[in-house]
Amino acid sequence: GVADIGVTGLAVMGSNLARNFARHGHKVAVHNRTYARTERLVSEHGDEGTFVPSESVEDFVASLAKPRVALIMVKAGGPTDAVIDELAEYMEPGDIIVDGGNSHFPDTIRRERELKEKGLHFVGMGVSGGEEGALNGPSIMPGGTKESYDRLGPMLEAISAHVDGVPCATYVGTDGAGHFVKMVHNGIEYADMQLIAEAYDLLRQGLGASAAEIGKIFEEWNAGDLESFLIEISADVLQHTDPQTGQAFVDVVLDQAEQKGTGRWTVQNALDLGVPITGIAEATFARALSGSVPQREAARAALPGDAGTWDVTDRDAFIEDVRLALYASKVVAYSQGFDQIAAASAEYGWNIDRGAMARIWRGGCIIRARFLNRITEAYERQADLPLLLADPYFTEAVGNGVAAWRRVVSQAALNGVPTPAFASSLSYYDGIRAARLPAALIQAQRDFFGAHTYHRVDQEGVFHTLWSGDRSEEKQS
Ligand code: 6PG
Repeated sequence: GVADIGVTGLAVMGSNLARNFARHGHKVAVHNRTYARTERLVSEHGDEGTFVPSESVEDFVASLAKPRVALIMVKAGGPTDAVIDELAEYMEPGDIIVDGGNSHFPDTIRRERELKEKGLHFVGMGVSGGEEGALNGPSIMPGGTKESYDRLGPMLEAISAHVDGVPCATYVGTDGAGHFVKMVHNGIEYADMQLIAEAYDLLRQGLGASAAEIGKIFEEWNAGDLESFLIEISADVLQHTDPQTGQAFVDVVLDQAEQKGTGRWTVQNALDLGVPITGIAEATFARALSGSVPQREAARAALPGDAGTWDVTDRDAFIEDVRLALYASKVVAYSQGFDQIAAASAEYGWNIDRGAMARIWRGGCIIRARFLNRITEAYERQADLPLLLADPYFTEAVGNGVAAWRRVVSQAALNGVPTPAFASSLSYYDGIRAARLPAALIQAQRDFFGAHTYHRVDQEGVFHTLWSGDRSEEKQS
């Protein structure tokens, strides 16, 4: 075969990645279950580079130069397994199968193990940036063997987004590491989106501002520390008018947020690892709350608010408070997400470089933001930084906003405006910095009802108090 790489699954993401490879001078084998789609890609975009179309999987594999690289861009789950099986039938030891879908990382670990037995490399690869990113430069998070990256890496780096000349693609770690990092990226995406939505709601309810006015405020924010793709598109969306009704577009959209599952997976994994990613969890649950239709109906009619009427006197000061609270909450969400990456890296033996992850998220992906440079710098200062929030840059940046954060969260509570992500992030901030937590009482309760034992602040060892006896203390080990 002659093709440098093959893409099977030519829906929008697959087609756009194939075109991106072709535009960078790679010969691209293309295949789709229904051949019409392959023909359409070649007839519409054949002039962008060299495509090698195939009708059958066998021909597709045969059209690839050895060691072969085949990128699968089909639906996660069963369809991905089916395509892997078909490809594996025709591939030879040393060949590389890449899954660029949003697969769940445990599936990737399993698939890698199965294919390794056949001598094949399997690369679970996170791709972010949607349709536009796939075509013009996504952020790419590949796992699998280092050996496979040697073959694949240069092509991925070429087609990825670049920031300051640096590609937004790098080797993440073995087996499921790439899909894991993409999953956490999406969890952070959920938190970012929820925080922006809460900021919008606060400005709307606090100031009585229109959607378009808030869009303008976001535009101004986008010129500062909060500069990011999500703030930018939010500013755009908020200034969009629904052509049918002439109302603000955001006011005609049903307020029930959906999800495809990556945020949920992030939270599930955090529970397994015992990592408190409260911002991402609140964001995920906020979507669930919005979709709890019968509950919302029952509550709307029945639950008293007993809330004040929000009367903001200094408009500019309030806007600045919300901006600072948003920034601080955002740092918390990222700090938590990076904690989860560290925990998983240790648990699964991935050795993930967190600074490098922040670097490849600077461009191409949905959470791309100026602020990611600061995260990379923090991990450059200290690779094993125990808490991103405790890096001097962030300590100061968040510290400057703490008073504002408290004002915003307390005013929102007094006035009955829900801020699950703002408020829980502030609680996390206060919890993680507390000299002492009421967890001591939890331990005492556990020992009382279940003899679950406790440690003491002043002695080594494991202790139990004979609560229903004479209340003497036993040292158990
Ligand atoms: C990306 C996005 C992409 C997709 C999300 C949407 O990085 O390009 O994250 O993967 O838009 O899966 O997720 P929900 O449907 O769960 O909101």
